[in-house]
Amino acid sequence: MWEDLEVAVEKIAPDKMKPKPPEDNLGFGAYFTDHMFVMTWSREQGWHDARICPYQDLKMDPAARVFHYGQAIFEGTKAYLGKDGQVYLFRAADNFERMNDSALRMCMPRLPVDKVVKALKALVYLDREWIPSGDGASLYIRPTMIAAEPALGVSPSSKYYFYIILSPVGSYYGQGFTPTRIYVSDEYVRAVKGGVGAAKVSGNYGASLLMSENAKKAGCNQVLWLDACEHKYVEEVGTSNIFFVIGDQLITPSLSGSILPGITRDSVIKIAESWGVEVVERKISIDEVLGASNSGSLKEAFGTGTAAVISPVGELLYKNTSYLINNGRPGELSSRLYKEICELQNGYREDPFKWVVRV
Ligand code: COI
Repeated sequence: MWEDLEVAVEKIAPDKMKPKPPEDNLGFGAYFTDHMFVMTWSREQGWHDARICPYQDLKMDPAARVFHYGQAIFEGTKAYLGKDGQVYLFRAADNFERMNDSALRMCMPRLPVDKVVKALKALVYLDREWIPSGDGASLYIRPTMIAAEPALGVSPSSKYYFYIILSPVGSYYGQGFTPTRIYVSDEYVRAVKGGVGAAKVSGNYGASLLMSENAKKAGCNQVLWLDACEHKYVEEVGTSNIFFVIGDQLITPSLSGSILPGITRDSVIKIAESWGVEVVERKISIDEVLGASNSGSLKEAFGTGTAAVISPVGELLYKNTSYLINNGRPGELSSRLYKEICELQNGYREDPFKWVVRV
């Protein structure tokens, strides 16, 4: 069982090490480091066979339940290289706690959070030379859990793999802090209350692709999803949560049961509140947002997420009408939050929240 489990470490042979990618053109999720962490869960043994090993293919039976019924969940967190040369993790334990919430929703086993954080630190330390040092660059961490039992009856798997892979990344949209153009979906929906929208389930992202492609054809970076029942209330961007500065308030949709409870969302709320900003979590309709844009009271909009960090929104496209936000420029609060969060994550400043952990 996990309590007795040692993490075995098999280092890659020096001649098999991959060349490091160019730091000025990392993109997002295109390169993977030399090692990964993997462990197996079975009904009889619980979590076992925990290993850090060279990055490699998984051997999967084509009947594995993940391929047929989509029992797959994942997380996203990051490691950062500090100015002091130390390596930092940001709220990684919170990500594994959230993964346990996703696991509960998908009938998958719980992770022992402390042990997994320890294994993650060992993995990141081993591949620390892959952490990029450029502005806005980091080592993206992708923990994943999948159902591995070969069986076609629709029931929870008796076997799972949990693995962590690492990818040096630049900014998610490949355009730094430049504001994005967001397409408001009035056609498809992302998630419904009672479904799996509040869990980080792989299928949520697969289901978003068709609309994302339509958004791209319209020249947009991403989709802003509205609620599934009335197509009226703002939910999230899919790769990030969304915030609006209207008048003097910072407003974000409340966690309705169909929205992902973002770790960056929570961090932004706490940082903004510590600055005395009035943060309001509530239902907000697209009509209210566009009305505020027309009246000039919508000062800023931005997305928040591990991958997206703080991503200013410069324009909303809804039913063929374009709504420019802050003349398409990043707003004052988004810029201040971006700077603050990057400096915290890179260990450049005092961390009053105790979110940053040294590897
Ligand atoms: C993240 O921000 O880590 C995400 O999971 C969003 C996306 C890249 C799927």
